Amino acid sequence: MKHVLGIVVVIAALAATSGSASAQSAVERGQQVFTAQKCSVCHSVAGQGNKKGPLDAVGAKLSADQIRQWITEAPAMAAKAKSERKPVMKAYALSKDELDGLVAYLQSLKK
Ligand code: HEC
Repeated sequence: MKHVLGIVVVIAALAATSGSASAQSAVERGQQVFTAQKCSVCHSVAGQGNKKGPLDAVGAKLSADQIRQWITEAPAMAAKAKSERKPVMKAYALSKDELDGLVAYLQSLKK
């Protein structure tokens, strides 16, 4: 009987964490997109990449919507932020999955 109870507890625990498990994989996907799109040519995370553009605390600085806008319409955001850094960032056309992952990943960066 104890045994059965143990299994029930394990299943309940798995069900409870499955939500955060899928969020985790979005972050992982975003990290891969970040690498594949070579964002680190101009940005760094944890000291890896171009240190003139650290994104280590971007999740605390910007909302998810603002991060999304930076990725999809960087020129407009740069104008709004009066950014003078060169070379400028281009607007990225990514799939919904790639974009959602990238936003989740950057949102997780809160140093
Ligand atoms: C050619 C260089 C370049 C590349 C490549 C690039 N960016 Fe940028 N990015 C910039 C510049 C320049 C800014 C404006 C930063 C500033 O003025 O402080 C910026 C700003 C940002 C910001 C806002 C940062 C803040 O602190 O407000 C985010 C988020 C961002 N980039 C994400 C990305 C992501 C994700 C990628 C890859 C898909 C990427 N960037 C690729 C140059 C680049």
